[in-house]
Amino acid sequence: MATSHALRESAPPAKPQSGAIHPLWVRVTHWLNALAAIVMMLSGWRIYNASPIFPGFRFAPEITLGGWLGGALQWHFAAMWLLVFNGLLYLALNLASGRFMRKFLPISPRAVLHDLIAALTGKLSHVDLRVYNAVQKFAYLFVVCDLIVLVLSGLAIWKSVQFPLLRELMGGYDNARIVHFFAMSLMAAFIVVHLAMVALVPRSLVAMLRGR
Ligand code: HEM
Repeated sequence: MATSHALRESAPPAKPQSGAIHPLWVRVTHWLNALAAIVMMLSGWRIYNASPIFPGFRFAPEITLGGWLGGALQWHFAAMWLLVFNGLLYLALNLASGRFMRKFLPISPRAVLHDLIAALTGKLSHVDLRVYNAVQKFAYLFVVCDLIVLVLSGLAIWKSVQFPLLRELMGGYDNARIVHFFAMSLMAAFIVVHLAMVALVPRSLVAMLRGR
């Protein structure tokens, strides 16, 4: 015990690692996912307007995509393939390379709370962009899970006859629409917070664009 303690104390300070902060495949899949998610959200708002779930609530047409229901559906379905295949590629490469475990785990509610308080009081370090703090880990894991719920609830709405089990897991067709709507709202909230965080640490945007 004493030896390992001494070893830890005498270890040289960690050198900054060389190489890319985000490998090319992370950057490419991130930007394609972001594009697909935004196109799906804006076209989804237009589709919602054609048959609102909440009476009296509609999205302003100026901030929607597609022009009319048919156009919005085409945008929604086109971006859907990009989101699903690119999202699966992102997940598969993360898992196969071990990056998922390294970057996003371990995580605990205690660590998230600790880093959240540190962030709100301006005490959270952003010196090493390679290491995600617990709040970043939570936000990214959260949005990945949210996107999976969005895709599954969307599938339950689109192919509700072909996927009866999925439809029932969502609480039926009407409930699947509500699940889809709330998952979209959570993603919109993520985007707002994500963009605010990126604006606070602009170096992180350069790293996500150039890799370093
Ligand atoms: C719209 C949907 C978006 C989603 C779902 C999303 C999701 C994510 C995820 C999951 C990560 C972690 C990637 C990883 O390390 O594996 C990430 C990182 C990042 N994203 Fe996004 N993103 C979106 C949009 C954007 C936009 C529009 C911008 C910039 C204008 C942006 C800038 C960044 C940056 C700079 C990072 C790295 C930040 C860091 O070091 O913590 N993202 N994003």
